[in-house]
Amino acid sequence: MDSASIATAAYIVASLLFILSLAGLSKHETASQGVLFGISGMTIALVATFVLVADLGSTTSVVLLIIAVAIGAAIGLWRARVVEMTGMPELIALLHSFVGLAAVLVGWNGYLEHGYFELQSLEDIHNAEVFIGVFIGAVTFTGSIVAFLKLSARIKSSPLMLPGKNYINLGALVLFVALTIWFVISPALWLLVAVTVVALALGWHLVASIGGGDMPVVVSMLNSYSGWAAAASGFLLNNDALIVTGALVGSSGAYLSYIMCQAMNRSFISVIAGGFGIEAGPADDKDYGEHREINAEDTAELLKNASSVIITPGYGMAVAQAQYPVADLVRKLRERGIDVKFGIHPVAGRLPGHMNVLLAEAKVPYDIVLEMDEINDDFKDTSVVLVIGANDTVNPAATEDPSSPIAGMPVLTVWEATDVVVFKRSMATGYAGVQNPLFFRENSQMLFGDAKERVEDILKAL
Ligand code: TAP
Repeated sequence: MDSASIATAAYIVASLLFILSLAGLSKHETASQGVLFGISGMTIALVATFVLVADLGSTTSVVLLIIAVAIGAAIGLWRARVVEMTGMPELIALLHSFVGLAAVLVGWNGYLEHGYFELQSLEDIHNAEVFIGVFIGAVTFTGSIVAFLKLSARIKSSPLMLPGKNYINLGALVLFVALTIWFVISPALWLLVAVTVVALALGWHLVASIGGGDMPVVVSMLNSYSGWAAAASGFLLNNDALIVTGALVGSSGAYLSYIMCQAMNRSFISVIAGGFGIEAGPADDKDYGEHREINAEDTAELLKNASSVIITPGYGMAVAQAQYPVADLVRKLRERGIDVKFGIHPVAGRLPGHMNVLLAEAKVPYDIVLEMDEINDDFKDTSVVLVIGANDTVNPAATEDPSSPIAGMPVLTVWEATDVVVFKRSMATGYAGVQNPLFFRENSQMLFGDAKERVEDILKAL
């Protein structure tokens, strides 16, 4: 058997392992098995690629490949070791941008290193592949960079509202279709330059136009785009593994975006079209009144007299690393016979399942950690809710103010409880940049300071 056939067989095995990996990752009991399948698939695909390159007989190619893999692996291992849990989404966004850039470079290479085609139709297909690959890659590249900048708070997360933004996006798409037809008929270099520039600008504008509250969907949408970009490169490089893997990433990312949109009551089309149909709301100059403050000792007193407590954690608990004292607090309260539960919003924190991972790390029993849909009916019968570093996910404006940028997003209805204590450091807004009327409600009190320190103070007072 020649090396090309061996590589093809290996790519099929790798593709099957990737499918098994995705299936495993869909349940937390089988997630680690899923990761192992993924690692095995990737190792097989890499070895097969080495074999293919080695068979070409060029030592330079093999040496270059080894250097590239060694540098990439070293940077990847280093970043994965040092990244904080809260920094994962921005790292993922950055990695998507590399896939986009790679697709652009592969596309340009496909144009410059133009092979010989016996049939005109094959040449036309090749040109279309180059053009589409460069377009998807460039949109993914700049879109992911904006997502990275927004997620790492290097730029503001509020949506960019250029006048006629929907027409800008639509115009760019129409231009892309027209340029593709032109390029297939007459593949001139300037057309490739033009589509690269249009796609870079479109990617930037699409993601810049989406508000902070919708960023979780944007990350999974860019994940999907990066998959399609990889699949496009696979067609150009004639690499089956890349086509299958790209299609898997593309379709699973699209499906994840869809179910996240459903969970957040967002229109899928609107989000993937850069906030299509969402107009800027009126400026928020409302007078919400005065907020009230509480200290740790009084919070401890409130808890001692409570019969039931629900804790709704958010991004601030992750920043403060407050999950360990929170777990101790839960233990203490349960020893006193108080019913304690957690309410987890699907997008609390900065990545899917963020809060569940932190609570599992601190050994909080699974059975008291409930999803939003399971717990929302319980707030009205609850004595005290502790909102620990959450903000957007407990904002009543989402259900009560149709002009709010997060209007329609399902939230934890914490304000229905008898007393609400909000742990945060200031009156600052949450990720979506929207003021939270919860802080000014009659039954809400603010416990200012770092969440970990305040929970430790409560533990001492108890
Ligand atoms: P956020 O709305 O982001 O609010 C977190 C709050 O924590 C902030 O208001 C902040 O207020 C407080 N905080 C930060 N550090 C703290 C500390 N050390 N101690 C105490 N408080 C601290 O949180 P959320 O309710 O979890 O909502 C998540 C948001 O992120 C949503 O808008 C969601 O759409 C978005 N998002 C989610 C994901 C996923 S997949 N989960 C991905 C990207 C974006 P102070 O500064 O005043 O302390």
